[in-house]
Amino acid sequence: MYSSFSNRTEIKLGDGLKDALTGSKRVLIITDHFMVQSKMTEYVTRHLDEAVFQIFSEVKPNPDIKTVVKGVEVILEFRPDTVVALGGGSPIDAAKGMIYFAHHQDSSIQVRFIAIPTTSGTGSEVTKFAVITDTDTDTKHPLVDDSMLPDIAILDAELTKSVPRTITSDTGMDVLTHAIEAFVCTARNDFTDAMAEKAIKLANKFLIQVFASPEDVELRQRMHNASCLAGIAFSNSGLGINHSMAHTLGAHFHIPHGRANALLLPYVIAFNAGLYDDLTEANKRYAKVARLIWLDCASERQSTMNLIRAMRNYISKLNIPSSIKAAGVTRQDFDRVLPSMVEAAFNDPCTSTNPRQCSKKELEEVFIRAYEGKNVI
Ligand SMILES: NC(=O)c1ccc[n+]([C@@H]2O[C@H](COP(=O)([O-])OP(=O)(O)OC[C@H]3O[C@@H](n4cnc5c(N)ncnc54)[C@H](O)[C@@H]3O)[C@@H](O)[C@H]2O)c1
Ligand SMILES: [Zn+2]
Repeated sequence: MYSSFSNRTEIKLGDGLKDALTGSKRVLIITDHFMVQSKMTEYVTRHLDEAVFQIFSEVKPNPDIKTVVKGVEVILEFRPDTVVALGGGSPIDAAKGMIYFAHHQDSSIQVRFIAIPTTSGTGSEVTKFAVITDTDTDTKHPLVDDSMLPDIAILDAELTKSVPRTITSDTGMDVLTHAIEAFVCTARNDFTDAMAEKAIKLANKFLIQVFASPEDVELRQRMHNASCLAGIAFSNSGLGINHSMAHTLGAHFHIPHGRANALLLPYVIAFNAGLYDDLTEANKRYAKVARLIWLDCASERQSTMNLIRAMRNYISKLNIPSSIKAAGVTRQDFDRVLPSMVEAAFNDPCTSTNPRQCSKKELEEVFIRAYEGKNVI
């Protein structure tokens, strides 16, 4: 057995795009409608006087298989030497899927892949994950492959100034969930811990401040960095059932990814730590997370309780619903899809690195507690 750590992606902090595009002759920009309408695509096109470029802007939140298939056709026809993904996790993930499948259809397709995140949340600019939705079955499929790692990531918080408050809060809680899951999961190591610890500290310090002062670019840059650090951590360590459950919950009820993670987080921590029955080894790790943000006390159980209280506090301050019911899901709809959500969460790749082994019955219990809003505190 061994664990490993790598980060192939070159990270440029600030506007390093001009340098990143040196030598590019055929550039495909993969993005969404908002980026075109708001003219944010000019952030890229202003550097393309000497290149031929095309914009594919059909990506929607939670990108689906059909969009990826369309994008593959565009890549095979246009034959770019560089692909620039501009947007939140959705355009970046869609671009990853398109490049991956285009290369599998025609191995001569080799592109330089530049990812420019405009939200501070998924860390997709530095991860080997891409989450693609099958809209026919309401299933989210996390694809995992080293070849999906971008070559260059541009972390320029200027691009996040326009992110509305609800998306700032949802994506910010995604950062915290990535960092906490990476810190407690079974495949962590000292290197992933280093990234996760810094991400937790930055998000703890800056998320609420950014929510209160969204125009402050320096604060935004710190959350942008936190997002990327958490991405490096979990791309190496994996995640846990918080994400497994959020993937299927989000796919069934169209709840944004970060919000789905946030509302599940207190219930998942309580389950993984064994607060409903016997304390687990994972409880020690959650107590360490509490220590990182100055919430620990003599009892490890109490430290984890303090962490859960802090997460609930964020959820409340950020106007995120505190249960699945509060997110507007009716009991009837919830009960109807519960068996398939349990099945999907059990089989999600993120479950394999969860710090506590869990049965389908236990996953169902966590879902029900999260629906009803019943936690240990
Ligand atoms: N690849 C990974 O490692 C990874 C990790 C976590 C989540 N994900 C996936 O990423 C997706 C979620 O990504 P996301 O949370 O970044 O949101 P998103 O990309 O889906 O965007 C959400 C909305 O925010 C808007 N937006 C983006 N940037 C903006 C800006 N600067 N100003 C104003 N509006 C802006 C978009 O136009 C869109 O309407 C999900 O599909 C999720 O499953 C991937
Ligand atoms: Zn996530």
